[in-house]
Amino acid sequence: MPRLAYVNGRFLPHRGAQVHIEDRGYQFADGVYEVVPVAHGRLVDEELHLDRLERSLRELRIPMPMKREALKLVSHELARRNGLTYGFVYMQVTRGVAPRDHKFPKSVRPALVMTTRQMKPAGEKTLAEGIRVITVPDIRWKRRDIKSTSLLPNCLAKQQAYEAGAAEAWLVDDDGTVTEGSSTNAWIVTRDGRIVTRKATQDILNGITRQVLVKVAEEEGLTLEERPFTVAEAYDAKEAFLTSSTNFVMPITRIDERSVGNGHPGEITGKLRRAYIATFAPDGGVR
Ligand code: PDD
Repeated sequence: MPRLAYVNGRFLPHRGAQVHIEDRGYQFADGVYEVVPVAHGRLVDEELHLDRLERSLRELRIPMPMKREALKLVSHELARRNGLTYGFVYMQVTRGVAPRDHKFPKSVRPALVMTTRQMKPAGEKTLAEGIRVITVPDIRWKRRDIKSTSLLPNCLAKQQAYEAGAAEAWLVDDDGTVTEGSSTNAWIVTRDGRIVTRKATQDILNGITRQVLVKVAEEEGLTLEERPFTVAEAYDAKEAFLTSSTNFVMPITRIDERSVGNGHPGEITGKLRRAYIATFAPDGGVR
């Protein structure tokens, strides 16, 4: 069975799946997307992802391409047909196909594309060692709360990290505070054990992993502060980690050229990772 994609109403072989050259997503990045993790064959926090998709679309005045229940049926069916056990479903909605013109076309139907990707959970070695991030200036627009497909600054930052031998880039605003990672949310644990992550304003994407982890931290009785932190504060932190749908909770052990804390993944980070995974895999199946 070839891997399938869903393209505007049809399940097609992924290999040859195409969209129109005048899709506004292609010409203007006029669209939004979601990455929904899949574990044990099930979509994780699907309702929260669909809430965010609806919100992103509303902010850009793009209609939902189909009812929410239908979207769920399509994504489940695609995951099932592709035999997806662990990985993610990618969904993208653009304003649609129209002759190139910056202003919104009058009558156009939104275009919907879905793909799936099988992925392995993070390896033992990566989790034991933690990853390195570098800091780079945040050169993005001012509506980072919208999950727009316009990701060029994010791509440039991730490439810079990759070329520096790091796994992620933390984006730094003009005032010296960290906003988030190029495709992840940023967290530190202070020397006195307080967890700090930026508040979900228009400055950052309100990650679904972030939203769930805020609750998990409270349930674990940990102290959480939602506020900006500076690069200097991150250098001085006891622990650091990032969150996203594809990483869950990932320990960071180096920021730029400095070790974080004792250079090993932190205790609170490990506790949060386990507690987060337990929200969708109570048997701890994913680690
Ligand atoms: N990225 N911040 C940014 C800029 C992101 O692109 C993402 C997600 C996150 C974390 O959000 P969540 O916890 O909902 O995955 C934060 C996805 C995974 C991506 O672009 O591939």
